Amino acid sequence: TAQLDLSGQRWVITAGPTREAIDPVRYISNHSSGKMGYAIAQAAQLAGAEVQIISGPVSIGVPDGCKKIAVESALQMHQQALELANKADVFVACAAVADYRVSDVATQKIKKSADEMQLNLVKNPDIVADVAALPAKPFTVGFAAETQDVAHYALDKLKRKNLDMIAANNVALLGQGFNSDDNALTVFSSKNKTELPLASKKILAEQLVQLISQHYIEKK
Ligand code: PMT
Repeated sequence: TAQLDLSGQRWVITAGPTREAIDPVRYISNHSSGKMGYAIAQAAQLAGAEVQIISGPVSIGVPDGCKKIAVESALQMHQQALELANKADVFVACAAVADYRVSDVATQKIKKSADEMQLNLVKNPDIVADVAALPAKPFTVGFAAETQDVAHYALDKLKRKNLDMIAANNVALLGQGFNSDDNALTVFSSKNKTELPLASKKILAEQLVQLISQHYIEKK
């Protein structure tokens, strides 16, 4: 990406998991490590962009020169994303956002009693779809984490969420996807399909940032 120049561009990237509280000591979450999103942030920053990462709880460090806004829940990530996306040129939604949250979070630790118990869940807002619906819509890139029919579901999300691009990964394959150092992506825009084969998340992020930049320039 030596020739890529993103100076003057503001990129906002969501990364990592969200945590949906059950009670003061328990939560619902997923295996996202933040590695993919942070690698994208680093690649964009190295190419000259001003980068803000809205991150769920992760154990990896913030890439040099990037600004991190730490959040826990999907609702917190949603609020930050809508605020920052208004002034962004490019928005990349790499976070693994919980689709549902617990409807009534217990204020005290839930006691063990009956053999069975139920948690009532309500749908979280869709962050990337709400960003794409902003009057000041940035160039909006989503991810699709699928375990089957990857292209079909990715194209459905591209359309339904009004995205400019979507990067799909098969998260059922060993050694890629959630938490691993490597990944493989199939990137769709409304017209194009690009395969980015298995590589380190660092290399993939550089390729993806390049691809996003090309499409962003074409759209402008
Ligand atoms: O973090 P790593 O360990 O490196 O793993 C990387 C990854 C597998 C998490 C990443 O490559 C990835 O696929 N991220 C998206 C995970 C996801 O939640 O995908 P999805 O298909 O459920 O969601 C589709 C898109 O909508 C995503 O851009 C997601 O950020 C967004 N979304 C989903 C729900 C919601 N409430 N708000 C959203 O913005």
